Amino acid sequence: QKAKMVIDKEFKISEIDERVYGSFIEHMGRAVYGGIYEPEHKEADEQGFRKDVLELVKGLNVPIVRYPGGNMVSAYNWEDGVGPIDNRPRTLDLAWRTVETNQVGTNEFADWANKAGTDVMMAINLGTRGIDEARQFIEYCNHPGGSRWSDLRREHGYEEPHKIKTWCLGNEMDGPWQIGQKTAEEYGRLAKETAKAMRAVDPEIELVSCGSSGSGMPTFPEWEAVTLDHTYDEADYVSLHQYFGNQDNDSQNYLASTLELDRFINTVTSIADYIKAKKRSNKTLMLSFDEWNVWYHSTEQDKENAPWGTAPPILEDVYNFEDALLVGGILITFLKNADRVKMACMAQLVNVIAPIMTDNMGAAWKQTIYYPYMHASLFGRGVSLQPILSSPKMDTKDFTDVPYLDSAVVHNPENEEATIFIVNRHLSEDLRLDINVSSFEGYQLVEHIALEHEDLKAVNTSEKQEVQPYKNKETSLNMGSIEAKVNHASWNVIRLK
Ligand code: AHR
Repeated sequence: QKAKMVIDKEFKISEIDERVYGSFIEHMGRAVYGGIYEPEHKEADEQGFRKDVLELVKGLNVPIVRYPGGNMVSAYNWEDGVGPIDNRPRTLDLAWRTVETNQVGTNEFADWANKAGTDVMMAINLGTRGIDEARQFIEYCNHPGGSRWSDLRREHGYEEPHKIKTWCLGNEMDGPWQIGQKTAEEYGRLAKETAKAMRAVDPEIELVSCGSSGSGMPTFPEWEAVTLDHTYDEADYVSLHQYFGNQDNDSQNYLASTLELDRFINTVTSIADYIKAKKRSNKTLMLSFDEWNVWYHSTEQDKENAPWGTAPPILEDVYNFEDALLVGGILITFLKNADRVKMACMAQLVNVIAPIMTDNMGAAWKQTIYYPYMHASLFGRGVSLQPILSSPKMDTKDFTDVPYLDSAVVHNPENEEATIFIVNRHLSEDLRLDINVSSFEGYQLVEHIALEHEDLKAVNTSEKQEVQPYKNKETSLNMGSIEAKVNHASWNVIRLK
């Protein structure tokens, strides 16, 4: 079968905010301890951070990392994680029912982020705490000095403020699992007043109002309508979270689930715009998709974890090839919504539902999902363009009229580069694709990178990168037209320069 596409430099959706390629490190499982930080490891640097893990993180060119939670933050006292390391308490993490040693805290994480070349997106505790803690914490992090909390930071060896720009007003406050869960009214009021206090300390910050924990929540979308009514003027973003899974082993339906993601984004955008109209506001609220990924492989094994371990191996999903295809589709969906989705964080980065894994033999390696994330982050910077795509369609269990192909196009006028991301989510149909690129006069085909595997369930291990990209040499560019074969179940990156 055949498919056609037209791309044009003028079909602009929006500039892409690079923070859409963000990620997330929560103090849970082996994300911090045994992940980014392992002082006994042969690759540990002077602070105990693993240099081999840092290299893998740098390979993704991650622009921002959310920290320190997640559910964990809703009963976290930041004070436990600062000051002399030997004096720090061992505390109970009530979200994951583990013991937190506090060997890594705010200052060490800021150091790690510098080493990784990334910014920190800091989440505050609006579960057990509130305005007072938030104003003190931001004073500690961002105020230059000459006040109680900023001078404490200086005493702790950090003369310069961390200048953390992006702050999340709590985490998943709608969820019954959240310590200190709130009703929408309770959260809206608290978040608004906390935001005011934080901004009084540092007017330069950006704030994220907490949205629903997923489109399946019973309080969605009322939660957004009620909370944004309170927080709209103070917040810059509303958060979205969504995890995906192929629990029914229906891969065709699973790969179509980005349609639900698109609907979720559109609904939250509509609610934000409704509140904008209601308030006669000139401000347009943007979206921060600050938790997303596939999460289901580890669910059963995690039920066996005994409580109060230190850094136990939890949420260690081993990703397969079809998960990589879905991750590619998710990234495409964000790019197609680049006018409103300005930040997004793959949850998470190391060991916990992550593209990077380590094991107790000291190895570190790339999971299957590392590759589409890397391609999008490296080649997906610039302006998002709207491709005009005509592709055969199919129906799946939950979705109708699902195009086999999904695509996003990015033009970087500065570097004179363009990248076409395509996923063929049909499990058996290869497509001949004709792409009209005549508006890109003078551009040459650089490469067609593809990720394919005959086994949808193939995984990578510390010993073998079973799933990894290759170069499809069959693709050609002649007279303003690209001819490519887009194989069934494949992720494709076609680059022009
Ligand atoms: O990323 C794992 C968990 O998923 C986070 O702690 C929480 O915010 C979400 O439910």
